Amino acid sequence: MSAAAGPHGPRLPPPYRLLALDSVASTMDEARRLAEEGAEEGTLVWAREQRGGRGRLGRNWYSPRGNLYFTLILRPDCPAIEAAQISFLAAVALGEAIGTVSPPVEVTYKWPNDVLLQGSKVAGILLESRAASEERLAYLLLGCGVNVAHFPQDPELKATSMHFEGVPKSVTPEELLEAFSRHFLSRVSRWVEDGFEPIRRAWLRHAAGLGEEILVRLPHEVLKGRFRDLDQEGYLLLEMADGEERRISSGEVFLTERKHAAGDR
Ligand code: BTN
Repeated sequence: MSAAAGPHGPRLPPPYRLLALDSVASTMDEARRLAEEGAEEGTLVWAREQRGGRGRLGRNWYSPRGNLYFTLILRPDCPAIEAAQISFLAAVALGEAIGTVSPPVEVTYKWPNDVLLQGSKVAGILLESRAASEERLAYLLLGCGVNVAHFPQDPELKATSMHFEGVPKSVTPEELLEAFSRHFLSRVSRWVEDGFEPIRRAWLRHAAGLGEEILVRLPHEVLKGRFRDLDQEGYLLLEMADGEERRISSGEVFLTERKHAAGDR
């Protein structure tokens, strides 16, 4: 970890407590260390660059200066299975934040928690946690990365950045983080009051591939079917060709219909 990011870091409302860093291996590691030391819920580790950013499924996360990288420490007072809903909540809050700082752009969500801009991946979310008991979590780390200025050029990742999609270059990671922090707080209050349903509905309104034929890669098989719904626990419901419905808890989705196919850009 190197020096703090200086006086012009983002301004976050309470109850966030910002730890602003310049360069770090991964904000997940810093947040985990702080959470183990007892850091309060709301502690948010933000870095201008990461040297070893991690993504889902053991992948690297491209992390040069100019993009947004942060990890928020949460201590949700609910069973672990419900805490998983927080990734949908974060995806929706990220989408809302992008909408707030940008001219009209098409934000969609790809299950389980990618955020797409004009059909390509602009942000990813990583959850890590430690269990306190079978039912409860000691803490949950919510890691978010948003390609504000740069994106990896690997065509397989089908990534993009906000600036590439026409969001003004004056939009900075700091501004986006400030917008996210407000939207996330309001989504959390609504979640505490009304449960998952409002988030589920907001996510489904902009779900990529809903009703279409998709591929879902699981550890030992690839399923092809129609994306029917997101259930009350955040599982993907996939209708197979024989009419059987599969309920999927984790995997990787590939959109297959023409408007999402690679090479369209
Ligand atoms: C994904 O694979 O889509 C999840 C990407 C999560 C990246 C963020 S960037 C901030 C935090 N620190 C990391 O090392 N990863 C997460």
